[in-house]
Amino acid sequence: MLSLTAALGGLLFGFDTAVISGTIPFITEFFSLSEVMLGWAVSSVILGAMVGLLFAGRLSDRFGRKRVLLATGAAFALSAVGTAIANDLTFFVLARVLGGMAVGAASMVSPLYIAEISPPERRGLLVSLNQLTIVLGIVVAFFSNYLLIGVGEDNWRWMFGVEAVPALVFFAALFLVPESPRWLVRQGAIPEATSVLGKLRGVIDVRDEIEAIKEVLAGEHSGKLADLVAPALRRVLIVGMGLAVLQQIVGINVVMYYAPLIFQRAGSGTDSALLQTVAIGVVNVGFTLLAMRLIDRIGRKVLMLAGSVGMAVALTVLATLFVLGHETSWVVLVSILGYTGSFAASWGPAVWVVLSEIFPIKIRGLAMSVATFILWLANFIVSGTFPWLLARLDGAWTFFVYAFICAVSFVFVFVAVPETQGKTLEELEKELVGVEF
Ligand code: BGC
Repeated sequence: MLSLTAALGGLLFGFDTAVISGTIPFITEFFSLSEVMLGWAVSSVILGAMVGLLFAGRLSDRFGRKRVLLATGAAFALSAVGTAIANDLTFFVLARVLGGMAVGAASMVSPLYIAEISPPERRGLLVSLNQLTIVLGIVVAFFSNYLLIGVGEDNWRWMFGVEAVPALVFFAALFLVPESPRWLVRQGAIPEATSVLGKLRGVIDVRDEIEAIKEVLAGEHSGKLADLVAPALRRVLIVGMGLAVLQQIVGINVVMYYAPLIFQRAGSGTDSALLQTVAIGVVNVGFTLLAMRLIDRIGRKVLMLAGSVGMAVALTVLATLFVLGHETSWVVLVSILGYTGSFAASWGPAVWVVLSEIFPIKIRGLAMSVATFILWLANFIVSGTFPWLLARLDGAWTFFVYAFICAVSFVFVFVAVPETQGKTLEELEKELVGVEF
């Protein structure tokens, strides 16, 4: 139940980033948006996420996980209401940035809190579970957009505004969860930590685990930004940053944030475009579940290689359809579904899993924040430039660009990424960084 509450943070994250897709035709008209301004309206949430991410780690170390999560709940709710009542673009964008700050903070603190309260043997599943909550949030947003399309000319306001409901549920539920025992140990509040941990584990004697936490804490967070450029870390740094950037520049969020626009370009009406978008959301969830079953069996590398091939093929088909002028709606739908399924079954969860595995413990937290920041930056650029690219390059060439990047992503994984499946984190540290680090 506690993890579920914290995972609601992931759900809000998914909802908040993807909800805008269904509102695009309406806000474009209401705010008279040019292509560049539409890109800005969509991607401003990502800018907020980058800011949120920068501060979330420090704030959650200082004030505790629970307080930061409460603040994100409040920010999600305020931003939902703000975007719903906006009458000018500046106000709208500011409300989006506020929601984005919550997204950035939640993307870091929710999984952190879950990892800190879970028994060690279950931690592996958690990274992918977090991905699952995000894609569930995305499909809920797509579905809610579809349901709300008929409520009149203010439909886009309702689409944004309904997010206040899950945000307030999240906020209220957080009052019932305890502070993270690891954070309490860190603050030196051992009696409180012992009591929380005892309740979580259902046993009285948790001394061993408290000692273990102390030991791990002593080794953690001692890394500095300068450590990241140590020669021993070069390889994992290149792999981590490369995966973070590639996961975004293959174009996934072009589909997540602009699918209805693409369907309309291929001739669909607004209603049908939003329904097809729901199908994308469902495929995204289904294939994420598939990835969760496969990732520990066939490994991260094979999965990503196959995913790159699937994405490249699907995008090439899509681009070719546009070139030939054969973009009849059902083939466009099938190729976008193929692309989304390929991503969800591979790069979606696998990149997050590999990022959590390859860095040595001493700098893991820091390196992951840097990698996540770079991932959001790449997302900001891709999602901000898409409407402009689409207008300049036409559907065809835009999708060829992403198809080409998918091919590059295949080569990168083939050449540079190590297989991490089935090895302990300590073994990986020795193999990838060398014992001396
Ligand atoms: C990516 C997000 C994306 C989501 C889509 C995640 O792994 O990091 O940017 O929106 O997958 O399912």
